Amino acid sequence: MGCYIMGIEYNESARTFRLNTPSSTYMICIVDEEQFIGHVYYGKRVPDADLSYLMRIQEPPFTPSVNNRDRVSFLDAFPMEYPTHGLGDFRQDCLSVRTENGNTACGLRYRSHRIFAGKPPLVGLPATFGGEKDCSTLELLAEDPVLQLQVTLRYTVFEHLDVITRSVDVKNTSNKSIQLTKVLSTCLDIDNRSFDMITLHGSWARERQIQRREVGYGRQSVSSLRGESSHQEHPFVALAEHNATQQSGEVYGFNFVYSGNFLAQVERTQFDTLRVVMGIHPEDFSWTLAPGELFTAPEAVMVYSCEGIGGMTRTFHDLYRNHLIRGEYRDAKRPILINNWEATYFDFNTEKLLAIAGEASKLGIEMLVMDDGWFGARNSDDRSLGDWVVNTKKLPGGLKYLVDEVKKLGMRFGIWFEPEMISPDSDLFRAHPDWAIQIPGRVPSLARSQYVLDYSRADVRDYIYGQISAVLHSADISYVKWDMNRPLTDLGSCALPAGRQGELSHRYVLGLYELQERLITDFPHLLLENCSGGGGRFDPGMLYYSPQIWCSDNTDAVERLKIQEGTELIYPLSTIGAHVSVCPNHTVGRNTPFSTRGYVAMAGTFGYELDITKLSPEDKEEVKQQVAMYHRYNDLIRRGDYYRIASYSENHEDDCWAVVSKAKDEALVVYVRVLGQPNMRSRCIRLQGLEETAFYRVEGGNTVLSGAALMNAGYCISGLWGDFQGRLIHLIRVR
Ligand code: DGJ
Repeated sequence: MGCYIMGIEYNESARTFRLNTPSSTYMICIVDEEQFIGHVYYGKRVPDADLSYLMRIQEPPFTPSVNNRDRVSFLDAFPMEYPTHGLGDFRQDCLSVRTENGNTACGLRYRSHRIFAGKPPLVGLPATFGGEKDCSTLELLAEDPVLQLQVTLRYTVFEHLDVITRSVDVKNTSNKSIQLTKVLSTCLDIDNRSFDMITLHGSWARERQIQRREVGYGRQSVSSLRGESSHQEHPFVALAEHNATQQSGEVYGFNFVYSGNFLAQVERTQFDTLRVVMGIHPEDFSWTLAPGELFTAPEAVMVYSCEGIGGMTRTFHDLYRNHLIRGEYRDAKRPILINNWEATYFDFNTEKLLAIAGEASKLGIEMLVMDDGWFGARNSDDRSLGDWVVNTKKLPGGLKYLVDEVKKLGMRFGIWFEPEMISPDSDLFRAHPDWAIQIPGRVPSLARSQYVLDYSRADVRDYIYGQISAVLHSADISYVKWDMNRPLTDLGSCALPAGRQGELSHRYVLGLYELQERLITDFPHLLLENCSGGGGRFDPGMLYYSPQIWCSDNTDAVERLKIQEGTELIYPLSTIGAHVSVCPNHTVGRNTPFSTRGYVAMAGTFGYELDITKLSPEDKEEVKQQVAMYHRYNDLIRRGDYYRIASYSENHEDDCWAVVSKAKDEALVVYVRVLGQPNMRSRCIRLQGLEETAFYRVEGGNTVLSGAALMNAGYCISGLWGDFQGRLIHLIRVR
């Protein structure tokens, strides 16, 4: 007896739940009279056998808990689906509380379950989605009978992808308030395996650099307490077999669909088991649940790959392209834009912008984006955030005149906002000093001369939204760049009671999500690009609202190789904001060929960030060619399967990636040799992802090679002379 719905199977006699994806199996078992929810297995697909023998429930220290004699040894070793605090499991737990009596422990027992087709949305939170034909969901209801807390563990299995998502609801069914002090979103206990841990680290202008290290004993984690997912560490961790490569080996990837404080941690225990947890960082977090109230922890995505790191990457890309990103731009080619930030910084006016637009339109660029500096008295970064009123000294005739003139050139228009911020030198701050996040009696710390608005407050959000929507209604605006340029500090809200101050960071993120949802609902044709001082908030949470995110303020083609490789490890190329800028590069002072800058920006949304009126005639000619190249290849780049072929961050010499169409009838390869080398004018690269038995012609010549030759023997790139040489190779299947 049992129940089966696409991908999820319940075996009533064994009391097991089996979650099957195309290549993986995940198994849960209910054990003991106390109804512990145990984790049995997650790995390569085992479609039929009952694996509950792995629980070793009779084996010390897995002694039955019912006699209570060895409860601590049991709890400290048992593989729990959702471990709780304070009763004997000394590994990282997922749930802790503070009761009215001041106690912190809790313990969960299985009560019931539900299996159904489809996937419910998470109210107020971003999450992956899928219809009844795409996925099915298991909800396990567990309870702490002492606290009268109900916890729902939610698992969704995607039919065609090796993906399982998890989220958690906690409900207070008692008649007393309780404080939640930790509610993580996922936990995975793995028995007796040794792995490398892959994480992403960075800084401003150096986001998402890949780090791989062996998992050692104890806890190793990445996290953010900055109120955003951050430049520094990323809400992602992967476990890879030591010998896993791009093409082979088992890899487990975890990514958090959230944009604020997070913890992603791997722990190797005394018994050589591993525990992975991911969720909202418990530090500075608390949430009061009144009787009857519910708290939902954000979604964590788990990807399994038995085809190496590349397999994991392609699964994340497909999941996010098809089941996370929304709106009319989800599958659409994006307009090639030119942004005036690096062209003018704050020093612009209507005349300069129209000059840029005029030249850009002649070369085929499709949209002008006016960046920071168009509002209030904003001539430098130390004022006016919050005063979203057009500066008519800079833009005589106002926004409408400018936009109409841009449109006459056949271009669209986009605009920059930083809606979460307030400058101390602003009319808004003078009127509402209490709207800034701050601790009474303490002067809040400035960063980039600004404070953060208290987005936990509906009145603050409503006011800002009113300002933004008035601007957007005042002219024909097609695009918004939503920036966020400082972390949260001085955590205090003038509107929250003392017992709820610990809710501020999460309420801030919920407020941000609410505002972006409102924006894209009211302006459904708007193309929204998120940004945070470059790529400080590039995460799946933000991708739920905007189909693209500015990847980094560093537009140097060589630095971008590393930044984009780390970003592409998880996120589809269609989401990565990437522009060609001038040389010497404004961040690192490097000179690279214009063509190479174009190839590198092609691995993203593609656009320009320069004063096009000042380009040489040769560079302008290149712009035309790049525009044509974008139109020719962007469908393939957005839709195809991504393969990482050479990694500059690993080999310090050259970089190569490819996109292969799903039908394997076309491929685009981009190669960059960073520094010229003596006697090394050619390089053979072994491609991936092609059809072995098919034959491909190299565009622009008569060379025809089989997939087997291109993948095993390689394709030879010749004529590499000088530094920073880039090549683009387009392969078309001929038979
Ligand atoms: C940071 C962004 O990343 C830049 O592109 C630019 O918009 C500036 N902010 C403007 O202040």
